[in-house]
Amino acid sequence: MEKLIIRGRKKLVGRVHVSGAKNAAVAVIPAALLTEETCVIDNLPYIDDVLVLSEILRQMGAQVVFEPGKRRMIINAANIGDYRAEFDIVRRMRASYYLLGALLGRFGRAEISFPGGCEIGARPIDQHVKGFEALGARLSIGHGLIKAKADKLIGSEIYLDVVSVGATINIMLAAVKAEGTTTIVNAAKEPHVVDVANFLNCMGANIKGAGTDTIKIKGVDKLYGCEYSIIPDQIEAGTFMIASAATQGDVRIEGVIPKHLEAVSAKLLEMGMEVEEGDDYVRVRGTGRPRKANVKTLPYPGFPTDLQQPISVLLSVAEGTSIITENVWEARYRHIEEIRRMGAIIKVEDRVAIIEGVDCLTGAPVVATDLRAGAALVIAGLMADGVTEITNVKHIDRGYERLEQKLVSLGADIERMDTEQRGTHLSVVGNQ
Ligand code: EPZ
Repeated sequence: MEKLIIRGRKKLVGRVHVSGAKNAAVAVIPAALLTEETCVIDNLPYIDDVLVLSEILRQMGAQVVFEPGKRRMIINAANIGDYRAEFDIVRRMRASYYLLGALLGRFGRAEISFPGGCEIGARPIDQHVKGFEALGARLSIGHGLIKAKADKLIGSEIYLDVVSVGATINIMLAAVKAEGTTTIVNAAKEPHVVDVANFLNCMGANIKGAGTDTIKIKGVDKLYGCEYSIIPDQIEAGTFMIASAATQGDVRIEGVIPKHLEAVSAKLLEMGMEVEEGDDYVRVRGTGRPRKANVKTLPYPGFPTDLQQPISVLLSVAEGTSIITENVWEARYRHIEEIRRMGAIIKVEDRVAIIEGVDCLTGAPVVATDLRAGAALVIAGLMADGVTEITNVKHIDRGYERLEQKLVSLGADIERMDTEQRGTHLSVVGNQ
């Protein structure tokens, strides 16, 4: 059990490089199962979710070499004789559901343990199931397992009832080698959906329209090995943007695609912050107490739900009353209880949080209840007067590469402590 100790009120200043996108990585890695040839995936984030997935693939019989220094994974799945992934670790992460689409696409059969992940809502997979069934698969769920089987996958038109990132990607994975054309209508448009489509096309797939709400997938007979580099993590970049604003800092966030960050940039500008965009960086300067703002989370290109928790922390010290409407996940407010203990005044009614800005948060012991709640609490700790102690940091490690080390390199005072051991101050490490 580890915890983070943050001594707040230090401005973040400097440059930070973002890692590869977690939510692209966790789909691209299983996608490599679709070929018997070798795939080389670059710019992977060095996070627990990536390590867990590589272990799952290994247990299935794939050869997987992860070179952390190069952020590169080399995968050869020629010898996975099995369409099953029913290991305990599968349950540890939500994105293991991509194994279902990938195994179905490769073998016409798949069996996986029911996925786990952050507790932020009901997280149904009915749209994934609907898509697989439309392609001709039969599915059954029971005893903690999902089983899918198809004699032949045949392209079909699938209308998603909700815009789902996971269902869009999973249907692409299952459909790339299906007979005929599959059309996904009301598809998710997130940058990582486009990234996965680009990876599959690089393997020889024929996918058009990714990034729009209609994706067409013409089935191909064979996929090949390829070398591919993952896009930068839009949510990690947004987290640093908000952290810079929150500490009245001045941080240049590098290696990003500014277009992916427009919703966050627009909101920070509305709150009175300075945002400068370059070709591959954004620079955010905090200019004092933020102005109140209303935030509604929406699928891309709307304001991302994955930054709702961090921005709610920033709004907790805004001048005036702000309203957040969480339209994607119904239970993504568990961090609010924690920041209330730091002095925030927030009322939650169903999907709406009404935030009455206070002058300042004060440090307190808090618990990270999920990945982005953890990031939000780190930002709260950076802003707060005094010492904040965050437990359950395993959630943060699942999705952020060396978050506290990157923050320390910008001037934050953060210590990681094993509850069993004495703490050590982190030394400044260069951005990689
Ligand atoms: C992905 O989850 C991300 N996870 C989430 O990021 C992110 O919050 C979410 O997309 C939305 O952007 C990964 O990519 C691994 P969805 P996913 O299917 O695919 C409903 C993070 O912090 N729905 O787009 O599971 C669902 O209940 C994580 O990095 C159905 O009703 O999300 C939700 O309300 C957390 N039926 C909405 O759709 C379904 O079959 C969007 O979910 C599927 C989803």
